[in-house]
Amino acid sequence: MTNVTQMNETDRQYYFMEKASGHVAKLGEELGRRPTCCVTTFGCQMNARDSEKLVGILEKVGYEIIEDENADFVIYNTCTVRDNANQRVYGRLGVLNGYKRKNPHMKIALCGCMMQEPTVIEKIKNSYRFVDLIFGTHNIFKFAELLCSLFENEGMVIDIWKDTDKIVEDLPVERKYSFKSGINIMFGCNNFCSYCIVPYVRGRERSRNPKDIIREIEGLVADGVEIMLLGQNVNSYGKNLEEPITFAQLLQEVERIEGLERIRFMTSHPKDLSDELIEVMKHSKKICRHLHLPLQSGSTKILTAMNRRYTKEQYLELAEKIRKEIPDMAITTDIIVGFPGETKEDVDETIDVIRRVKYDNAFTFIYSKRTGTPAAAMEQVPEELVKEQFDRVLKTVQETAREQVSRYQGQICDVLVEEINENDSSLVTGRMSNNTLVHFPGDASLVGKLVNVSLDECHGFYYMGHMV
Ligand code: 5AD
Ligand code: SF4
Repeated sequence: MTNVTQMNETDRQYYFMEKASGHVAKLGEELGRRPTCCVTTFGCQMNARDSEKLVGILEKVGYEIIEDENADFVIYNTCTVRDNANQRVYGRLGVLNGYKRKNPHMKIALCGCMMQEPTVIEKIKNSYRFVDLIFGTHNIFKFAELLCSLFENEGMVIDIWKDTDKIVEDLPVERKYSFKSGINIMFGCNNFCSYCIVPYVRGRERSRNPKDIIREIEGLVADGVEIMLLGQNVNSYGKNLEEPITFAQLLQEVERIEGLERIRFMTSHPKDLSDELIEVMKHSKKICRHLHLPLQSGSTKILTAMNRRYTKEQYLELAEKIRKEIPDMAITTDIIVGFPGETKEDVDETIDVIRRVKYDNAFTFIYSKRTGTPAAAMEQVPEELVKEQFDRVLKTVQETAREQVSRYQGQICDVLVEEINENDSSLVTGRMSNNTLVHFPGDASLVGKLVNVSLDECHGFYYMGHMV
């Protein structure tokens, strides 16, 4: 038998999955039932995809996956982009500790972006001693191996890497939805926007090989119709590969995959969005009519301090070009209010951009100071001033989005049904190509299907409709 240290990484992890299966089976015998596990995800699509990878391994080693956190094994896949994400984790850990006191077999693991911060690890080591396993974003591929350590060791297991250049292919993954899936095309970020902690917790930018991406998607399309290509900045995909390729070229290759009906991607940095990409999107039958183009601020002064590397005028020019080339494109955005040094006049500039671009939706965030980022050392804006400005921005977003979204009222469009409506089980919820949600009468048999829906009534960010 090959020595485990000599195996390639994928084989090594399969070896540990075998081993972990033995541990889980033994636990099952002790419990007299199949051990249960719950994975809770905080944060973005990148994290959601990572959780699917965790679930893939947990299922393979024999856990029963449940939604209830009163389980034999609970994993929090954390986010640290804003401080409120961190606070939610600390709050909920207290609840988990209560469960653990009643279930001596219970294990608790923490992973994800928040774990890449040394101060967080210190705090957990000091105040949350009941946590059993901690790992980070760079070594998630060795989850099976860490599971074995968890079963084979007493006390807290901690394994955090500062960075990695490794991409491990072909590990198991369990998709939350069978008909749509996120696909990582790159990891990390090299942009260093001055407010953002992501480059510190997700490491340097590295792209997956196009062949691996295509192979993964081909494997998914058997029962899937929609994929979302994921990266912190997809527009710089492929630049550092041995054989460089642009994101637009990758999209063209993905488009050729038979059976695939819809292609989405996230996130585009405005400074890197090429004419080539606009051209490819314009002529594509599969790429969805949705572009998420984070603005962050409409003030060139603030944009410069944010190290965004575009001006208000350059952003507006880009948005105009997209509108001209692809008129039915929905543009959505992210906006931060309260960045250090931001005045009412700066917020006026942001509001001006919102009115001119006419976003279909905008996620507005109050600036959150992240230790270690350049903006944390800048002079902060008092909280009470930020709240007032935030409300002004939100109001503008709501007004313009309603107007923008409602422009399809009365029309019939393609909707991919995603689930039974959360509030009313006689309805289903689906998504238009431009990412707008539509609720309409239907049942579970429609989930995963593309259907024609009449858009009867616009309610701000979504539609009520009926199938035709
Ligand atoms: N404070 C507030 N919002 C932030 N974002 C990133 N970092 C911060 C921060 N420190 C927002 C940006 C980004 C989105 C994912 O989160 O708008 O586009
Ligand atoms: Fe996603 Fe960033 Fe949050 Fe990490 S810190 S989960 S990359 S949003």
